[in-house]
Amino acid sequence: MSDILVENKGGVAVVTLSRPGHRNAVTYAMWRQLAELFRAFDLDPSVRSIILTGAGDDFSAGADISEFDVVRGGLEDSKSYELAVDAAADAIYQVSKPTIAALRGYCLGGAAHLAMSCDFRVAENNAVFGIPAARLSIVYGVSATRKLYALVGVTEAKRILFSASRFDAGRALDIGFIDQVAENALAAAHDRAAELAENAPLTISGAKFILNGCARGALDHAAAGRLIDEASASEDYIEGRQAFKDKRPPRFLGK
Ligand code: COA
Repeated sequence: MSDILVENKGGVAVVTLSRPGHRNAVTYAMWRQLAELFRAFDLDPSVRSIILTGAGDDFSAGADISEFDVVRGGLEDSKSYELAVDAAADAIYQVSKPTIAALRGYCLGGAAHLAMSCDFRVAENNAVFGIPAARLSIVYGVSATRKLYALVGVTEAKRILFSASRFDAGRALDIGFIDQVAENALAAAHDRAAELAENAPLTISGAKFILNGCARGALDHAAAGRLIDEASASEDYIEGRQAFKDKRPPRFLGK
């Protein structure tokens, strides 16, 4: 997995897209690896929060266009390519732990989809955003477009997609595409990840499931009810109440 680096320290996993000579452009192999990686995080209790970032100067310039002739040439290839992109992004979107994208430099196209799949986006002032699909005659996928719409609303989403123009971190913050500008995005993401890693995992995963369902307009109420019940019956709920009585910080285990 040398194009994707993974580190797990103190409950915070850091996933780094690492092809700096190619502005971390994401290959077909990398989309597939990302899906596997984030599905595995779901099952790993040692991971409490996850940061997604890029090596060097950029988050990522998006899908690796240079391999499109080979992996996204015809209609069938294009369909399976887009399935792999959506599988990666949706694995990130659905992972039951909080996710933070730490962004600098370029964040374009498919990379914007990766960033939008995270719960939070922290960017440095030099970050440059855009979705250049209209310069390639590609329709940005349903999963990605829905996430864009949920973040910025229909008019901004149309402006971004129809124009293919780039926008900076200030504009991204104004329209709700990102939620924080920081001098050092990775450091700010670590601060937030560490803070979230202290809180009750079942609360966060339940809240995430419900909010993602609301954002998609398709909340599975029965599954949400099961998550609510699981938290109410958990050891962590006992620990939370005991810690309150003891006047000490709670120590949650996620069960
Ligand atoms: N796919 C494949 N390779 C990419 C890439 C991408 N999306 N983005 C950048 N690269 C490669 C460049 O081809 C170049 O490789 P080379 O040195 O072998 O020629 C290297 O990364 C450095 O990029 P370069 O274009 O020289 O940097 P720049 O500062 O002049 O421009 C960008 C940066 C991001 C504006 C420009 O590379 C670009 O427009 N990339 C494509 C962005 C895009 O359309 N993304 C959407 C994909 S869904």
